Amino acid sequence: MIIEPRTRGFICLTAHPKGCEQNVIDQIEYVQSKGNIDGPKKVLVIGASTGFGLASRITSAFGSDAATIGVFLEKPPSEGRPASPGWYNSAYFEEQAHKAGLYAKSINGDAFSHAIKDQTIKLIKEELKEIDLVIYSLASPVRTHPDSGERFKSVLKPLEGTFRNNTVDFHTGKISEISIEPGNEEDIKNTVTVMGGEDWKMWMDALQKANVLAEGCKTVAYSYIGSELTEAVYRKGTIGKAKDDLEATAFSITDSLEKLNGKAYVSVNKALVTQASSAIPVIPLYISLLYKVMKEKNIHEGCIEQIQRLFSDRLYTSTTEIDDEGRIRIDDWEMREDVQAEVAELWKKVTTETLPKLGDLEGYNKDFFNLFGFKVAGIDYDKEVNEMVQIPGLQ
Ligand code: NAI
Ligand code: NA
Repeated sequence: MIIEPRTRGFICLTAHPKGCEQNVIDQIEYVQSKGNIDGPKKVLVIGASTGFGLASRITSAFGSDAATIGVFLEKPPSEGRPASPGWYNSAYFEEQAHKAGLYAKSINGDAFSHAIKDQTIKLIKEELKEIDLVIYSLASPVRTHPDSGERFKSVLKPLEGTFRNNTVDFHTGKISEISIEPGNEEDIKNTVTVMGGEDWKMWMDALQKANVLAEGCKTVAYSYIGSELTEAVYRKGTIGKAKDDLEATAFSITDSLEKLNGKAYVSVNKALVTQASSAIPVIPLYISLLYKVMKEKNIHEGCIEQIQRLFSDRLYTSTTEIDDEGRIRIDDWEMREDVQAEVAELWKKVTTETLPKLGDLEGYNKDFFNLFGFKVAGIDYDKEVNEMVQIPGLQ
């Protein structure tokens, strides 16, 4: 079939297999161009199909020759209906990994459930025996609690009064003011239950109990801090409470891994266009301005550049540099004083009319469509493609 983008708000309902394949190949080539990392050998990535998780899987495999098991929740294709992009990404990642002689298998299902944890552990026991790195990179708006069966929905709300600020519709470039009413205790609880650290801890406890964690293993989850411009709705909002909880969980996981001499880290990453971040109000406008400033300074990075640097300069070095709160910071360039000052200046001035010039709306847009395999250089979108791509190592 011929596949075109069909967008609805901040989601795209279609995905292009060839474009997703090219994205994966480009990321692999980037990692290979940076040379070998003396890194992990047997890696479990939870949330492995897109964004930072996919980049973590690619960096492990092609930067450090690691065997990888990827867990994700993606929609398979059906006749005449393309799969979700993470499905195609995983299919082509595995194809490339297998070609390179690397072990790669995948599990598609709800990572929050006991069943998927059990299935993953069974696969590790049978095939890899043990894991030396667990990447926790889930981004989800909902979680069904595996014990109670209760379904929780996260919300993106401020907590310190009504939040008013500019936001952009990144399809049209139209800037408008939004106003978001503050969340309450219930909203905090729901958001922490979905995006906090409980499930990460459940995974690590289950893996440890099953004896499939290697001596000296590491686990990393991803967090975000960001600028003063977004903090009312992000870091000081409901999602920020979930990130506080996730960050605190790193310490309790490290404690529980003591006998194995294992360690849990949170890495604070840079703001980037992913399916998760395009749904957050105000963030797309911030990213458009941030991209402009960082590209001009030649310090712009995407997911793969961020994670390659995380592995090579932070995680797999003799000492892992951390901040006062014990976190790894690869948002260091985003948070640089000159960068933040320039973004704040642009923020004051930017209007619908000036955004194309002051900001990098075009870059935002391109990255958004790229997530779904569209607007990728070298792909002929008028050509028929087979949507029925299967994932070779899907369990
Ligand atoms: P993403 O949307 O690209 O990836 C989410 C992954 O989670 C996908 O692999 C998806 O299949 C998987 N997933 C979602 N629900 C699932 C479920 N129930 N069961 C199994 N898999 C499921 O998101 P992104 O942006 O890569 O986010 C990953 C982490 O990085 C999140 O914790 C996010 O807060 C964090 N982060 C994101 C930043 C950004 O700007 N995008 C910046 C800093 C941190
Ligand atoms: Na991810």
